[in-house]
Amino acid sequence: MKKVRIHHFAEMKARGEKITMLTAYDYPTARAFDAAGVDMLLVGDSMGDNMLGMDSTVPLELDEMIPFARAVARGAERAFVVADLPFGTYEVSAEQAVASSIRMMKLSGAEAIKFEGGRRVAAQVKAVTDAGIPFCGHLGFTPQSANALGGHRVQGRGDGGYDALLADAVALQEAGAFAVVLEMVVAPVAEKISAALDIPTIGIGAGAHTDGQVLVWLDAMGVGDWHPRFSRQFAAVGQAMTDGAASYVAAVKGGEFPAAEHSFDE
Ligand code: KIV
Repeated sequence: MKKVRIHHFAEMKARGEKITMLTAYDYPTARAFDAAGVDMLLVGDSMGDNMLGMDSTVPLELDEMIPFARAVARGAERAFVVADLPFGTYEVSAEQAVASSIRMMKLSGAEAIKFEGGRRVAAQVKAVTDAGIPFCGHLGFTPQSANALGGHRVQGRGDGGYDALLADAVALQEAGAFAVVLEMVVAPVAEKISAALDIPTIGIGAGAHTDGQVLVWLDAMGVGDWHPRFSRQFAAVGQAMTDGAASYVAAVKGGEFPAAEHSFDE
């Protein structure tokens, strides 16, 4: 098992090997995905809505994320761990972005930072990478700006859609990003951006021709009964947990559990 490091992503793009990324928010999930060979674990701010029951990612605080990011970093032996900065912790200035990134890196043990936006945050990205912090961008549908984007809308459509996204992606690359997530971008535009950039693109709802793919793990592993159209349920974890819990309830109520082998003698 070879530890995944930042230079491996450029090498994977160069040889056409797809990069795999899943979100993870705790230690056992990180260990399971690490053992499965996932290249990158993302401690996404999607923990706000997916794990903490918030109605969006917007209310999540930096210090709420840190214990989860620390748990993921502890569970990842091979995978490269990227942590999101939540809304409100990097937009104000380059100084704010560097201070938030340093806090996340020092307290969590994550190996890189991700936050949303293109040209509008290029100064922040440059300051973060100048501080020696690996940075992953996030373009297309950016959930923290869902209100400004008019909801969950596919990006890159219409006149100028490609040009604007490409200008944002190039700005991130020039500011030192090592990769960029493209979320809900029309597939031909994502393909052209992937070809135009030196750094890898990681798609989510952006078609098959990005350099890698990322999914929110609860969507990918079938925890809920709904998943977005661009995801696939690769397992039925939610149903397995409900079935297991129902067996437990039946065994306890029926007096079959605990049995002798689960009990301690004097
Ligand atoms: O927070 C998150 O899970 C993300 C992915 C959707 C890329 O940013």
